[in-house]
Amino acid sequence: MAWNGRNFLSLDNLSGEDMVGLMQRASHFLDAGDRYEPDAPLAGKIIANLFMENSTRTRCSFTVATKRLGGDYVDLLGGTSSASKGETLVDTALNLEAMGVAGIVVRCSEERGPWEIAQQVGVPVINAGSGTTAHPTQALLDAVTLSRYFGKDDLSGEHIAIVGDIAHSRVARSNVIGLTKLGATVTLVGPKELLPTDLNCETSSDFDSVLSQVSACMMLRVQFERNAQVGEDYREKFGLTETRSANYQGAIMHPGPMNRGLEIDDSVANIENSPHNLILSQVTGGVATRMAILEHLIG
Ligand code: CP
Repeated sequence: MAWNGRNFLSLDNLSGEDMVGLMQRASHFLDAGDRYEPDAPLAGKIIANLFMENSTRTRCSFTVATKRLGGDYVDLLGGTSSASKGETLVDTALNLEAMGVAGIVVRCSEERGPWEIAQQVGVPVINAGSGTTAHPTQALLDAVTLSRYFGKDDLSGEHIAIVGDIAHSRVARSNVIGLTKLGATVTLVGPKELLPTDLNCETSSDFDSVLSQVSACMMLRVQFERNAQVGEDYREKFGLTETRSANYQGAIMHPGPMNRGLEIDDSVANIENSPHNLILSQVTGGVATRMAILEHLIG
């Protein structure tokens, strides 16, 4: 693997080959499943989960990944930390480093938070979602899930739609970078007011037309907590409804959490209704992908 970065802050610094290397390692962990016998590369090491924003999937999968690699972890959650007394994000990270942690996994609302921490601390920093800028481990696990679905190492020749609240989505930003590096064509779909035009790929507000051309469709959550506003016709125009998905045979993805009944119908979200539904495979792949990243940086 050519990539020799100390941190995992975005996919900008990785080549497609670097990504494939990590994806293959994640795939190895997935294939091994419960039969994986760890050589405990994180034995004796403690990873700090510094989560200033809420999380279910990312935080728990980093915890599971750390434990499966033989390591231990400490959780520091925004609401219970001394950030509530005005301590800065960087000071918080410096204090964790002073306690001897081997790496810091950070989620924060600050757009450049993980980069600022990485400039100040000497241990590896992993970006677990920063503002609207980047969620690189999510994009890598999405790539792992898709490469296994298509049965190939990269995603060359695939056309993938990312649909919904693109404007507030760090998942979309990291996926545009990652999917493109792996050879896929990406089309962003959404209402004009939620569709930035500076992301270096095609955009469209005609979901039906795009859906007929793509081999995978990644639905995104409308981020009401970031003041996203959508019209009453949002589900009809941009939701993956039962009617809309009836003739669609490609992969169905969602990073979670889902607004069921808005961007995706209940019946479409329920995994038993379609062999193409990869939503929980993404979660399973998340543990393996984070194992690959932790092993590479810290193991
Ligand atoms: N996909 C994702 O980042 O989910 P969480 O916010 O639950 O971690």
